[in-house]
Amino acid sequence: MRNAELTVSDRIVLALDVDNDREAIGLVAELKDLVGMFKVGHQLFTAYGPDIVRRIISMGGRVFLDLKYHDIPNTVAKASTEAVKLGVSIFNVHALGGLDMMKAAALAAKETAEKLHLPCPIVLAVTILTSMDERSLRKELKISRSLQREVGHLARLAQRAGMHGVVSSPQEIKMLRKGIRGEFVVLTPGVRPAWAATDDQKRIMTPAEAVHVGADYIVVGRPVLKAEDRREAVRKILEEISMPRTAAGSKYPTGARK
Ligand code: C5P
Repeated sequence: MRNAELTVSDRIVLALDVDNDREAIGLVAELKDLVGMFKVGHQLFTAYGPDIVRRIISMGGRVFLDLKYHDIPNTVAKASTEAVKLGVSIFNVHALGGLDMMKAAALAAKETAEKLHLPCPIVLAVTILTSMDERSLRKELKISRSLQREVGHLARLAQRAGMHGVVSSPQEIKMLRKGIRGEFVVLTPGVRPAWAATDDQKRIMTPAEAVHVGADYIVVGRPVLKAEDRREAVRKILEEISMPRTAAGSKYPTGARK
């Protein structure tokens, strides 16, 4: 089940894929009233550390900490505790770290949030990286089932471990919505508005399509970062997502957060 309470703005996660903190902070200042969250990944975190996260949060921005933890359960539990203390809204781990590792992350997040009276972040599992294909799964990892079946299997394992949802490619959303019961968050990168360049993304959907087939959150980077008018680019995406789709028979709440 998806989260119907999110506004359209809440659903947009802007990837802060920029070279320096000045640019990142500038983007937060410019767009925080239009987008729900900012994604801090390995590049920015390695260069500027947790301080960049604290600065974004102190400006009123929400943060998805995209560090994809993958280590022994004890280490991932400790990293998860720190992510909660940092105040991030979403963080993630690799499902291939296994059931015990995912359980440790989910439990540490829950217990730390309760102990410190902080909101518990959404903890997501990355199933199979979209840079892998069926051939590399088979040849390198010796995983012989189809990509879709493996993704479905890892998503169910993640749910069993207490993860709140998964990061998935747009192509997997429908299958996940069909195969997984109960509340489960789906966040998807790899989206491209029809008016934007595809860059290096291959199996893409438009943001509106991704939301209509069941994504709760969409991650957008270059279509906004490279736009001449970034606010206008975000507004166009919001508008497209808000448009009712008669075929799907569904409408999403309109209007950006003020
Ligand atoms: O610029 P673009 O919209 O392609 O940015 C997408 C963001 O989502 C980047 O930060 C990229 O690393 C991330 N991502 C992705 N595909 C995945 C996982 C993460 O594009 N499978």
